[in-house]
Amino acid sequence: MCGIVGYIGPRKILPVLIGGLKKLEYRGYDSAGVAYLENGKLNILKEEGKLAALEEKCIGIETENTIGIGHTRWATHGAPSRVNSHPHTNEAGTIALVHNGIIENYAKIKEWLEKKGVKFVSETDTEVAAHLINHFYFGDLRAAVANAIEMIEGSYAFAVVSSEEPDTIVAVRKDSPLIVGKADGESILASDIPALLEYTRDVYFLNDNEIVEMKRGSINFYDEYGTKLRKEITRIDWDVSQAEKGGYEHFMIKEIYEQPRALQDTFSPRLIDGKIDISEMGMDEDFIRNLPKITIVACGSASHVAHVGKYIIERVAKIPVEVDIASEFRYRKPLLLPDQLVMVISQSGETADTIAALREAKDNGVKVAAVVNVIGSTIAREADAAFYTHAGMEIAVATTKAYDTQLLSMYMLAYAMAHVRGTITEEEYNEAVRELTLLPEKAENVLELCEQIQHIAYERFMDEDTFFIGRGLDYALAMEASLKLKEISYIHAEAYAAGELKHGTIALIEKNTLVVAIATQKDLIEKTISNIKEVKARGAHVICLTMEKYLSEFKDQDSVDEFILIPDMMDMMAPIIGVIPMQMLAYYITLDKGFDVDKPRNLAKSVTVE
Ligand code: G6P
Repeated sequence: MCGIVGYIGPRKILPVLIGGLKKLEYRGYDSAGVAYLENGKLNILKEEGKLAALEEKCIGIETENTIGIGHTRWATHGAPSRVNSHPHTNEAGTIALVHNGIIENYAKIKEWLEKKGVKFVSETDTEVAAHLINHFYFGDLRAAVANAIEMIEGSYAFAVVSSEEPDTIVAVRKDSPLIVGKADGESILASDIPALLEYTRDVYFLNDNEIVEMKRGSINFYDEYGTKLRKEITRIDWDVSQAEKGGYEHFMIKEIYEQPRALQDTFSPRLIDGKIDISEMGMDEDFIRNLPKITIVACGSASHVAHVGKYIIERVAKIPVEVDIASEFRYRKPLLLPDQLVMVISQSGETADTIAALREAKDNGVKVAAVVNVIGSTIAREADAAFYTHAGMEIAVATTKAYDTQLLSMYMLAYAMAHVRGTITEEEYNEAVRELTLLPEKAENVLELCEQIQHIAYERFMDEDTFFIGRGLDYALAMEASLKLKEISYIHAEAYAAGELKHGTIALIEKNTLVVAIATQKDLIEKTISNIKEVKARGAHVICLTMEKYLSEFKDQDSVDEFILIPDMMDMMAPIIGVIPMQMLAYYITLDKGFDVDKPRNLAKSVTVE
């Protein structure tokens, strides 16, 4: 989604803004622009397409200016074009503004302003904000912004500059992230952490309707009524190197290879005296013992984690679990029980629908715990408790290491709750803890499949359809494998509960259709083998992901064309390791197709609009 940067300090503005926007490129965008002052006049540079086009436009511009704002736009209202890209200005060109989010009542405000004679040039919702701030501007930019947001409905992060106040940036947010970084003699604001890391790791997170006024040497925060606020600095422990490829060709493959470390970092700090510590979830033992139900809510890959969570929490902790996609949950008026838990899962902590679901649950008086990766994100702050995955910064749009650490977190929660509830024996618990401890090493081993996966990718990258099938936990893994493939390679991919295939979808199987069968669960293997035979009989090319210990189950039948063998482990844990070759398959197929692996078309890393 869109990205915002703003800077005041000693450095020349254009390289700072372009550099900041580059750090946000991964979020997905289709045009970009900057605004800076020169001799008391606001200059705007904008270009459609990649940042390189804007960067080229900046070549040869020798501005001494050291304050400005920049934006990468992911089009919502109005096609991607130079005129629709941000910054937008008032008619006189004295106020410039960048915006993330959607102004829902923009048509009404536009009509109101047009009646006053204001002329609009773009098709965007954002332009109304520039004119509205101008309407309220009487020499105080902060006051004008405060008045404007009173009229604006929807979601926004705004950063605004004015040629009348050449040493000031005013910014405000509601339902769209905005972070302010404080460094020695300079301050930078951005919609996401990577853009700040080059300057500082000391940041302020803005809450809804908080206004920041950045001037040279000062950063002040106000509420919408003008009362000054005291805000705490949060120190981000991410490293700037995490926002760089470090020798890898793409962020996605770097992040796939970071998984053993990410699993280790998520697990080890919570293993205390041989027991899994989930105190960050903010649940006391009585609460866990009496839990009547858990509802897990998430979007995209995180919702696939929720499906795995359902299987294992129900199986080991014996708590009924309901899974909801956040965009459905928020509108379906779910029946929540007062003493239940709602768990939200999110990498970014900024997904608009997941935030709305969290608020819906809280409004119903239900406790909400978040499994979240980004420290200080909206979800982390608004949930009653936050259990952080320690995946580190994830840049590739297609999630890998964040997904896997979310999965691991589900297991930690399930087993820790089961232990408290006495639904597993001490021996079973210890066995599970031992297995969890071994996962980083197994993740390392499975990376060795790289060559085989590259070979499969080379053979299959021209496919138009792929089906992923599995039962139980293998079905949950199939869902993620299928999403991974389709989102970056644009190959049509579907995940099916293996037993359901014959109720319609099998009609699509023809000679050489690729079916990836996942069969890692002993109690279901025979059933899945029957389904494999069904597709094989219709000509499918079958690749089967299983564990070494189950290879013998497939002897005496030749329905599988190729096996992907993952190391042996407790069946329950298989999704955590099994997903890695599936991620690699999606990556290498996309590479062979020549597409942009890290920034797939139409997608955004963090979906901050509904
Ligand atoms: C986007 C991303 C997905 C992600 C989903 C939820 O669609 O492209 O990879 O799974 O949002 O994001 P979250 O940050 O809430 O986990």
